[in-house]
Amino acid sequence: MPVIIKTPDEIQKMRVAGKLAADVLDMIGEHVRPGVSTDELDRICHDYIVNEQQAVPAPLNYRGFPKSICTSVNHQVCHGIPGSKVLKDGDIVNIDVTVIKDGFHGDTSKMFTVGKPSILAQRLIDVTHKALWTGIELVRPGCRLGDIGHAIQTFVEAQGYSVVQEYCGHGIGRGFHEDPQVLHYGTPDTGISLQAGMTFTIEPMVNAGRRNVKLLPDGWTVVTKDRKLSAQWEHTILVTDTGFDVLTLRRDEQPAQFG
Ligand code: MF3
Ligand code: CO
Ligand code: CO
Repeated sequence: MPVIIKTPDEIQKMRVAGKLAADVLDMIGEHVRPGVSTDELDRICHDYIVNEQQAVPAPLNYRGFPKSICTSVNHQVCHGIPGSKVLKDGDIVNIDVTVIKDGFHGDTSKMFTVGKPSILAQRLIDVTHKALWTGIELVRPGCRLGDIGHAIQTFVEAQGYSVVQEYCGHGIGRGFHEDPQVLHYGTPDTGISLQAGMTFTIEPMVNAGRRNVKLLPDGWTVVTKDRKLSAQWEHTILVTDTGFDVLTLRRDEQPAQFG
């Protein structure tokens, strides 16, 4: 399928959806603390999206996914299903929020620490965040997807960590997962060339140990094979005439701090 170039009107709707998704992550932060269950986090996000934002939580019933957000704890890589698991001091958790507003999707995720994280956990989180922004800052018309994947992979591996290859970023718009696939590894000067009006996610999953993952019998939860920690951050990005816009920027984030 071709990559859909969004019109100015569609881009405006993507901005609204992206802002709402970011707002959910800003809202949930104070609730992520020892003793809370991932089900409670799901319920709070669901009610906020539906009642406050008058939007739709995209994961709910997506290909049979049973909840409104993904919560991936410690060695869980992505697509963790909220449940009775209670967060404890030292845990790390990725919360992945996707909302649909006025027919368009905004998709973003963030790492949270519960109580006091280990030095390793904090470093993994920081490296993964920097990997995301290493990719984002390359985005402009003419940049090729292989350049982005290569930059992310090179950065992560230089830190002694590994990039998960089975899951990737994706085009996004009226569809949750549109073309192109945005790999977080790759070869420079390969892949499609970016054009203004494209919207896609970058969402690297970085493992403290080996890159290998396995799918749990629930059909959704992806975990590291070696049971070492994994981290992920995600933004929805617009290609502009001169570079990029991050459509899911949060309160706690300013691009200047990464420049
Ligand atoms: N939000 C995830 C992504 O970044 C997709 C979750 S699909 C679900 O693409 F069904 F698990 F919610
Ligand atoms: Co995504
Ligand atoms: Co997501």
